[in-house]
Amino acid sequence: MPNMWKLACCLFAAVSHARYIVPGARWYDTDGKLISAHAGGVTLGKDGKFWWFGEYKVEGQTEGGGVSVYSSDDLATWTHHGLALRAAPVEGHPYISPKNIIQRPQDNSSYGLLLQGLATSPNISGPYTFVSATAPLGNWSQDFGMFTDYKDGRSYSLYSNGDSKYGRDVYITAYNENTTALDEVTYRFDKFDLEAPSIVQTEKSYYMLASHKRGYRPNNVVAARADSLGGPWSQFFMIAPRNTRTFNSQSGSNLTIAGTKKTTYLYLGDQWDSNSLWESRYIWLPMEIDDDDDDDSKKTLELVWNDVYDLNVKTGEWTAVQPLKTYPASDANVKTSGKAFKQEANFASGGYVATGIYGNDSTVTFTGIEGTGKPQWVSFYYQNIDDMGFGDQPGGTPDRIGGSWQLRRISSVVVNGDVSGNMQTLFQRDTHKGIILSTPLQLTLAKGSNNTITVGGSDLDSNVVYPPESCSRKA
Ligand SMILES: *[C@@H]1O[C@H](CO)[C@@H](O)[C@H](O)[C@H]1NC(C)=O
Ligand SMILES: *[C@@H]1O[C@H](CO)[C@@H](O)[C@H](O)[C@H]1NC(C)=O
Ligand SMILES: *[C@@H]1O[C@H](CO)[C@@H](O)[C@H](O)[C@H]1NC(C)=O
Ligand SMILES: *[C@@H]1O[C@H](CO)[C@@H](O)[C@H](O)[C@H]1NC(C)=O
Ligand SMILES: *[C@@H]1O[C@H](CO)[C@@H](O)[C@H](O)[C@H]1NC(C)=O
Ligand SMILES: *[C@@H]1O[C@H](CO)[C@@H](O)[C@H](O)[C@H]1NC(C)=O
Ligand SMILES: *[C@@H]1O[C@H](CO)[C@@H](O)[C@H](O)[C@H]1NC(C)=O
Repeated sequence: MPNMWKLACCLFAAVSHARYIVPGARWYDTDGKLISAHAGGVTLGKDGKFWWFGEYKVEGQTEGGGVSVYSSDDLATWTHHGLALRAAPVEGHPYISPKNIIQRPQDNSSYGLLLQGLATSPNISGPYTFVSATAPLGNWSQDFGMFTDYKDGRSYSLYSNGDSKYGRDVYITAYNENTTALDEVTYRFDKFDLEAPSIVQTEKSYYMLASHKRGYRPNNVVAARADSLGGPWSQFFMIAPRNTRTFNSQSGSNLTIAGTKKTTYLYLGDQWDSNSLWESRYIWLPMEIDDDDDDDSKKTLELVWNDVYDLNVKTGEWTAVQPLKTYPASDANVKTSGKAFKQEANFASGGYVATGIYGNDSTVTFTGIEGTGKPQWVSFYYQNIDDMGFGDQPGGTPDRIGGSWQLRRISSVVVNGDVSGNMQTLFQRDTHKGIILSTPLQLTLAKGSNNTITVGGSDLDSNVVYPPESCSRKA
């Protein structure tokens, strides 16, 4: 995201804990609206607040909506400041228009222009004024990212040079000292054909993260490591457990939180929903990096999955929120109805999944669930093989559900049989066969242990119930 503000890694306002971070949930801003800042970047302002810029997508207009901006003290509570950059026509600039696609790069609606845009503002919250759209050193630019080296302050443009046979490279290109124009190519990943590049910098290393080009379909994000941006770079390696497709997300950006006790590196990924782009979710996760000077340093970077975690932006520490209780589908107090039944599954947490649930007339009901009377996060562990077949292979097609990509199953979730008042929709993204992932919903369960949760959805492994946020809020 081009803006004039640079990341200052070491300035943090003293803010107290407020809310948990719940990857893959519907995230709402302080006005109660869905946060719309896709393929975004988060930067720390001189005011000590975090500022999140991203693509604004609403139902009915998923492209060309401009760039929205939000601010936060804790990375969990976000206030919307409207559009930082509007997609209104700008005189002399044919590219900025509601008909064109503003993405990581500035682009027209056929992805044919592949340019990088620059907009500036005296105020971090905007509005930004469009300055220019340029082809980096005469090349195409696809899926733009920007990196600033905290050691010398120099900025770099990260991009792929398109899908034609003349392209398919990934570039790290240095800006001039004022970040107004590109200067020279620092490194080129020749024919690596990756996209959505971002660079994570530790004291010792640079890690280049990128995803494979699969449109909006999630895949295994990979990373390479180097001591210097100019290389030599290591082989690319996977950063999440295989076949989770990086927990159904695409890399895009990252954030370093240099706290008083710990430096935490956050992966800021997108869980695209190509069936309704405006409903795409965000997957933000801590990265575990082992590249210290020890001989046994593994030189690895791994995403750490957390259903729910608590991040202290002041100290830089994060903790996984411990569940109150886990309810495996194998338990006798989990009842099936209609065509649903329990089937042996050695990869499931209780040895069985509840399956055959397709359509909301066959349901699975978890009974005897303990609640607190306050909104609580419940993570639904599931397998969804609607897109089974060659779904994980390039060029593959799904062999179930009519041969068209489903991407996610939308199922109903009903608490205590109250269909009218307390029904929610659970989006279960497709998984690889034999891979269990989780997806969260915030539910209000009655106080006591007589709650039921009825799900009409995909194969269920278990439900995990977390404490309400207020229970473990720290000073
Ligand atoms: C987008 O740009 C390409 C390349 O310049 C051009 O061929 C195409 O017609 C443009 N599409 C639109 C909708 O403007
Ligand atoms: C910058 O933006 C903030 C919030 O949007 C506003 O309160 C402030 O007045 C603006 N400052 C300037 C100099 O425009
Ligand atoms: C632009 O891309 C082409 C194809 O990869 C490459 O041969 C050329 O060197 C690139 N130009 C620059 C300035 O990087
Ligand atoms: C950067 O800005 C400084 C101060 O305005 C100026 O002296 C210098 O020439 C600029 N450098 C470039 C490469 O534009
Ligand atoms: C990743 O983090 C670095 C700071 O380590 C920052 O400069 C960069 O803008 C972030 N985003 C991307 C896309 O690399
Ligand atoms: C289940 O119910 C939800 C909520 O009414 C609906 O959106 C969804 O399409 C239904 N799913 C199936 C598979 O029928
Ligand atoms: C538990 O809830 C069911 C209805 O969901 C009700 O019939 C039953 O009486 C309740 N039991 C207790 C002990 O509250």
